Amino acid sequence: MSNFTPKEIVSELDKYIIGQGKAKRAVAVALRNRWRRQQIPKELRDEVAPKNIIMIGPTGVGKTEIARRLSRLAQAPFIKVEASKFTEVGYVGRDVESIIRELTDIAVGMIKAEEAEKVKDKAREIAEERVLDILLPPRPVTGTEPSPEESHKATREKLRTLLLEGKLDDRFVEVEVKESGPVVGVLSAPGMEDIESNLKDMFSNLFPQKTKKAMVKVPEALELLAKEEAGRLVDMERVTKTAVERVEQSGIVFLDEIDKIAGREKGSGPDVSREGVQRDLLPIVEGSTVNTKYGMVKTDHILFIAAGAFHVSKPSDLIPELQGRFPIRVELDSLTKEDFIKILTEPRNALIKQYKALLETEGVVLDFKEDAIAEIAEIATLVNERTENIGARRLYTIMEKFLEEISFEAPDIKGQTIPISGQYVRGKLSNIIKNEDLSRYIL
Ligand SMILES: Nc1ncnc2c1ncn2[C@@H]1O[C@H](COP(=O)(O)OP(=O)(O)OP(=O)(O)O)[C@@H](O)[C@H]1O
Ligand SMILES: [Mg+2]
Repeated sequence: MSNFTPKEIVSELDKYIIGQGKAKRAVAVALRNRWRRQQIPKELRDEVAPKNIIMIGPTGVGKTEIARRLSRLAQAPFIKVEASKFTEVGYVGRDVESIIRELTDIAVGMIKAEEAEKVKDKAREIAEERVLDILLPPRPVTGTEPSPEESHKATREKLRTLLLEGKLDDRFVEVEVKESGPVVGVLSAPGMEDIESNLKDMFSNLFPQKTKKAMVKVPEALELLAKEEAGRLVDMERVTKTAVERVEQSGIVFLDEIDKIAGREKGSGPDVSREGVQRDLLPIVEGSTVNTKYGMVKTDHILFIAAGAFHVSKPSDLIPELQGRFPIRVELDSLTKEDFIKILTEPRNALIKQYKALLETEGVVLDFKEDAIAEIAEIATLVNERTENIGARRLYTIMEKFLEEISFEAPDIKGQTIPISGQYVRGKLSNIIKNEDLSRYIL
């Protein structure tokens, strides 16, 4: 489990997300609390309930982005789901318990990978032996002839040297690879995923897995066989046991779009179902036991981080029991022009860096001048104010629009450096900005 300090977590998040200090601190403390809880004596540990968080903020200011980045840091089973995707139990659709089942699947995958990493060397050794067996099949024992055993062994060792030196990398060998099981496509209706995957498991147990022969080059054969051997060496029973433990002790569920299920008005239509989803969520957030294909999973200590724009609804529109389960509320700020300038340039994955890299593949160098960046930020702020505030997402539409021509022409202007000035940006966009209706459609 990650032992990042809150400060370290915030500074990791800082590499990708501009501002939103309060939200970063809240998630950092929550994550650190998981680690702290692990350090205290068992009796007390069971008493410490996770402090679930709701992140509230307008659209496009970094809520989901914080969750995405946090998941990389957490090194814990982590799942991000859209609350609006679920339907009440009894209705067609995905029920909320599937969140925990999926989280457990994720944990199993994680632990399997960890365990496979531990047996990697051993699996590779066995794979090498198997490739050698293919290249030089063991001699059938006849018993009568004077043993040519010695020379056979020597040949094998020679081959081994060649193999390790990569001298056989261009040779083809025939290996048996598992065929992916029959695809049961009939049940691919929404909400049936679980049943389908259970069925697949059932079938794969019923019918021995088919294999097919394939000619592949030696390095690929080694990889395929090593993977197969690793699968054999890993103790799946231990994997699932550890995975369930890991989910229970350090699992994190990110419930995005929670505002979409807020609402308590009685009546017909979607509202009934919304409140139903909240009611269904309650036991999971409160702590209950969910039956998964890896066994029972207790949800008492899973951390829930919810996020929503809460444009129409408010956190107080959630049913009271659920509100009480999310004691920490953090608000994210609207983004200013200064934030936009930073978002364009500072993050590791900043937009300007992305566009430069994309066009560099065509041999075109984009030379952004400082006043161009300021102009983009200015226009984004303006359009957000005049039409609808979609936060940093506005930067995407603007960039895309004024770079359209260059993007299209790029292969023909190979080798050129294109200076992008504020004036260039303005020139490309001024007609659209002047006309409010036009900007609604285009930017
Ligand atoms: N503070 C920020 N720093 C850096 N990039 C940001 C920031 N806010 C938003 N972005 C960028 O804008 C895009 C949209 O942000 P994000 O998905 O986090 O929005 P959101 O707050 O979850 O909105 P919604 O309520 O609509 O889901 C992201 O791709 C992200 O790169
Ligand atoms: Mg979002």
